[in-house]
Order: sequence, then structure tokens, then C-alpha cells
Amino acid sequence: MWGVFPILKEYFSGAAASSVSEARLCFEEIGNRAHTYSPVYNKDDFESILKYSSHITFNSLSQYYKFSGSLAKHHDKISAGLRINPEFSEIGHDLYNPCSPGSRLGITAENLKMKGFPEGVEGLHFHVLFESDSYALEKVINVVENKFSSFFPELKWINMGGGHLMTRQGYDTEHLIKTLKRFRESSGLHLILEPGSAFAWETGELVSTVEDVVENQGIKTAILDVSFTAHMPDCLEMPYKPKIKGATEPVQGKPTYRLGGNSCLSGDFMGDWSFDNELSPGDRIIFMDMIHYTMVKTTTFNGVHHPSIGIWTLDDKFRLIREFGYDDYKNRLS
Ligand SMILES: Cc1ncc(COP(=O)(O)O)c(C=O)c1O
Repeated sequence: MWGVFPILKEYFSGAAASSVSEARLCFEEIGNRAHTYSPVYNKDDFESILKYSSHITFNSLSQYYKFSGSLAKHHDKISAGLRINPEFSEIGHDLYNPCSPGSRLGITAENLKMKGFPEGVEGLHFHVLFESDSYALEKVINVVENKFSSFFPELKWINMGGGHLMTRQGYDTEHLIKTLKRFRESSGLHLILEPGSAFAWETGELVSTVEDVVENQGIKTAILDVSFTAHMPDCLEMPYKPKIKGATEPVQGKPTYRLGGNSCLSGDFMGDWSFDNELSPGDRIIFMDMIHYTMVKTTTFNGVHHPSIGIWTLDDKFRLIREFGYDDYKNRLS
């Protein structure tokens, strides 16, 4: 949601990108070249990747060698890195675990040692955390030091990816600082972090309306004017059960509902939540904490209406940023 970059720019000066479009957005709307990593780059995009990036990380040695010729012409402006796979992650969900068996993401220490460290590479990149604390980072750093420190003398920097939830209540920032200082001293490397969700943690409410209530085999479903699969895909993929304002986990004796989306996908529902009162058409259902990994993955599947985006200001006013209509849906696919 680049409409809020002017606010975010008070806190950062650059961004990580995973594609040529993200790198371009960083360049045009933040004003700096991106730290770019993508599982693959293709020839058509690479000239633009070079234009919009200060650091480019490759997922494999074959990708690095494919583009090292073009990179060499820009070696004074762009630093090349390799993504490593430390084969250690505490992420429980495979969808978000880059170290699951057979993962396509990153080069293992064994492969890097076998194939040899390529000339021209100045950095290593790992991204194995998700909503994690500093103690999880410390464990990963220990593994990376054990497996990859023989390459450190060849390097200038190490990028520790995202997944650092330093804005969560109780995050031990003192421990983070201590851990990073120790690692910087022992490795002699410039350290880079790419926190993403931490900027948007516990922000963003998706406001929906109950349009109908149906009942089947004793299960009551309130059908909303939004969709889990189109507007909150992470809830189904992760799976992640969002908090709802004024609702709780199911409580015996209280009005309890599944919430259903307005797409025709059978599985476009989640449940259950309990409410103080029975739900009826017109009631508002407010999903909390919807910005990171939910809002960014929205689609117009089935042509369902895309929610408007706006900001509630500190003086309690609503500032509309963007409304979506038929043309946005129509122009997406042809
Ligand atoms: C390479 C890389 N860096 C940083 C991030 C941001 O991670 P998070 O939002 O969990 O902090 C991601 C997320 O997908 C990523 O793939």
C-alpha cells in the first residue's frame, strides 16, 4: 500500500523487493534502489532489475552465472549476493518454511562447498524466520556461523531477511541489539535486516457487512460481502484465524457462527466465532490485523467486489485512498 509510504519513510530509507515491479516501486516511490531477491530472474526483466537495485541476491549458482556478465558492468553500483539455505527453521507451517525438505529456496552449505564460492559475490542472504523473536534469530545465526563462516572472509555483508517481529509486545529489543553486535564483531560483516510485517503489525481492519444468515445441519453461517479466498487468502492458506472485534472463540450457549465469503468457492468460509447477540443482515463484522500477508494477496476472483482502501486519521476521520470498480476487475485479465 504505497499510499502510506510518506508515513513509513519517516522510519526507513529503502526496501527489499522480490520482483522487478517491487524494485521499481521502491525506486520511484521511496527514492532509493532496492535490495532485490527473487527465486529466478529472467532476461527480459534483468535490465530493469539492474536499474532499480543496489543489491541483487541470487537463489542459485546457475542464476548467478547466467547474469554475472551483465552484473560485472555495474559492479561499482550493485553488490551481488547468494541466498543460502541453512536447513534450519522453527517455522511450523510448510507454506512459510523455506527450509522444508527439498525446498527450492537457497543454496545449502554442502552445495556451496562442493561447487565452490563464485568470484564477484559480496554477500549472503538468508530468510528463515516468520513472526519470530530475537532468540529464534540467535539460533539461526549460530547455525549460519557453524555452516557458512568459512565463506565470511570473501564477503562484505550478510542479509538476515525478514520475519523479525520487533514491534510485537514483549519482543526483547535489547537482546536483538546484543545478538547483532556480537555477530557483527565476530563476522566483521555489514548486517542487513528486512523486517516487513513488523511495520504493519496489528494494523488494518477489514470492515464487512452481514448480507444473509443460512443454517444447515445445525450450523449457522453469516454470509458477508467479503471473501476469505479473495480478500483474506492467508486465513485459508496458512491457516490463520483472524481476530474479530466483539467476537470470541466459540462459547457454549452464546450465538455462534461460521462466517462465509461471497465467492462461490465451497471452502470460502471460516469458523467458528461466538457473539453476544444473534447476527442479522446489516451487522458489521470487523476483521482485525488484516494488512500484512492478507491485504497484499487479494484477488478479484469471481469478480467479487474489492474493498475500498482508506485511513482512519487520528482526529477520527475517514480518508478514502482508493475505490475499486468494474474497470479494475475487467482490466486485470485481458
Ligand atoms: C526475502 C524476504 N525478505 C523479507 C521478507 C519480509 O518478511 P516479514 O514480513 O515476515 O518480516 C520476506 C517475506 O516474504 C522475504 O521473502
